[in-house]
Amino acid sequence: MSQDYKILHSYSVGSTNDLAEATLSREAVDEFTVFFADYQTNGKGIGHNIWESNMGENLLISIVLHPVFLNPADQFMINKIVSLGVCKCLDKYITGQRITIKWPNDVWVGFGKIAGILSRNLIMGNRFETCIVGIGLNINQQNFSPEIPNPVSMYQIAHRAFDRNEVLKQLIDDVKHFYSLLKKNLIEAINQYYLERLLFYNTSATFIADDQEFTGIIKGVDEFGLLLVEVEENVRRYNIKDISLKVH
Ligand code: BTN
Repeated sequence: MSQDYKILHSYSVGSTNDLAEATLSREAVDEFTVFFADYQTNGKGIGHNIWESNMGENLLISIVLHPVFLNPADQFMINKIVSLGVCKCLDKYITGQRITIKWPNDVWVGFGKIAGILSRNLIMGNRFETCIVGIGLNINQQNFSPEIPNPVSMYQIAHRAFDRNEVLKQLIDDVKHFYSLLKKNLIEAINQYYLERLLFYNTSATFIADDQEFTGIIKGVDEFGLLLVEVEENVRRYNIKDISLKVH
């Protein structure tokens, strides 16, 4: 894979996503510029969540993409290819446990969350200008605060430390791989890979929506990124805010 990317490393930032956005507001930023920090004082997760990470132990990055070829209506494809890239990267380092995508933006190993993705899309009219892809990947952290639900790191699974710079380069290559499939418009192939990685795909699982617990079967994700859940032979569509998956 070619090395056409640029890593901009910082010791401590508020959030790499914010840094990427501020930089983009001032100047042109090439595709596959990667803002990489050792620490975030204001790391952001999905919704109002915060993203916690010890100093210098994990990957905290934001990758700048310019998917001008993509219809803004298909923006969830970016989420798919990035999740697939994270899984492919982890395949190189982790054996013996299933690496899956937990819709919509987590990567899990077994029943632990090892990575989260938070993208910010900049769309001008009907043109997709830029996507800032924020990725937090737990690498060498051994202890997490008890408020974080189901965290896990590569260290905790493999019982050894990893070189963050090596993992970063591998991750960029693997995201590039799936991004190139998207550029070639290989949507069906990407969707197939995604379903193969989707946690609880075609499996009975327990969900909570509208304060009700129910059993359903994940049938996939639609083109807008809504989760398709079959309940009593009807397929319902859910937004992230409206449903949660009960694990254990
Ligand atoms: C989630 O699972 O809620 C998404 C977490 C995304 C965290 C990453 S860390 C690098 C980038 N900068 C941020 O502030 N958030 C993302």
